[in-house]
Amino acid sequence: MQVINTIDELRKQIKEWKKAGLTVGLCPTMGYLHEGHASLMDAARSGNDKVVASVFVNPIQFGPNEDLATYPRDFEHDCQLLEAHGVDLVFHPEPSEMYAPDFTTFVDMNELSETLCGKTRPIHFRGVCTVIAKLLNTVTPDRIYFGQKDAQQLAIIRRMVRDLNFDVEVIGCPIVREQDGLAKSSRNTYLSPEERKAALVLSRSVRKGQDLVASGVRNSAELLASMKERLAEEPLADVEYVEVVDGESMQPVETFKDGDLVAMAVRIGTTRLIDNFTVGDP
Ligand code: PAJ
Repeated sequence: MQVINTIDELRKQIKEWKKAGLTVGLCPTMGYLHEGHASLMDAARSGNDKVVASVFVNPIQFGPNEDLATYPRDFEHDCQLLEAHGVDLVFHPEPSEMYAPDFTTFVDMNELSETLCGKTRPIHFRGVCTVIAKLLNTVTPDRIYFGQKDAQQLAIIRRMVRDLNFDVEVIGCPIVREQDGLAKSSRNTYLSPEERKAALVLSRSVRKGQDLVASGVRNSAELLASMKERLAEEPLADVEYVEVVDGESMQPVETFKDGDLVAMAVRIGTTRLIDNFTVGDP
């Protein structure tokens, strides 16, 4: 497995592969990798000749009061996981390689990035779109892989790729969970043992929602009331939002259909966790 830190070197390798007619899959990450990330690598491995992963804690997607400085990092462990999952190349740039001191160009998006997480993280998706646009321009992959865990991010990237005519197939991969149901996340490492237990309230609420949908509920208010009730049972949980939105536009809906998204963000202590399910998904 190659580790590359510069855009020039990355471009050189990609050109060689393309010249040889090989297909390339790209899995962007911020590192501190776990089985959720690994599932993207596995999907990319089975669908492409070459697999590129990026490990880059993207500073421009963090707000001033967010956890950029403390975001967990362990590049050595990341490389072991990536190698074990058949990744051919890891792109691991310094922030200065990605952002010149006078960097001024951003990819921004209206509407989809203003609901759900966008309400409390106003610059987050601008940072995500910008770094993904840069990675797409550099790697020019045939396919790019994202987890449904960050469902709004996935919807936003799909829209950006369509709107800006990036020549790439966007592939969404299912949420990978711990055995007890908690969605795997690099940020789970922030949780104390007591908070780790409390965090189960998210997946419990998701399961409650899925059960109601299975029993025929299609009214958002009814669904959300029951899910909020479940969340309120946990005193350590501070709910930021639980919403039902259209699966493409990310705008709230009164009644929902297959493909729509039920998403939540909940603080457990100081740790902000997200979870979701798509209506009609198994
Ligand atoms: P990061 O949080 O490291 O996640 C990288 C990718 O792994 C994302 O597509 C995310 O949805 C996926 N992922 C994380 N946990 C998962 C889980 N439990 N199950 C399935 N997939 C999971 O998301 C980012 O980084 C950044 O915003 C990035 C896209 C890299 C841009 O900087």
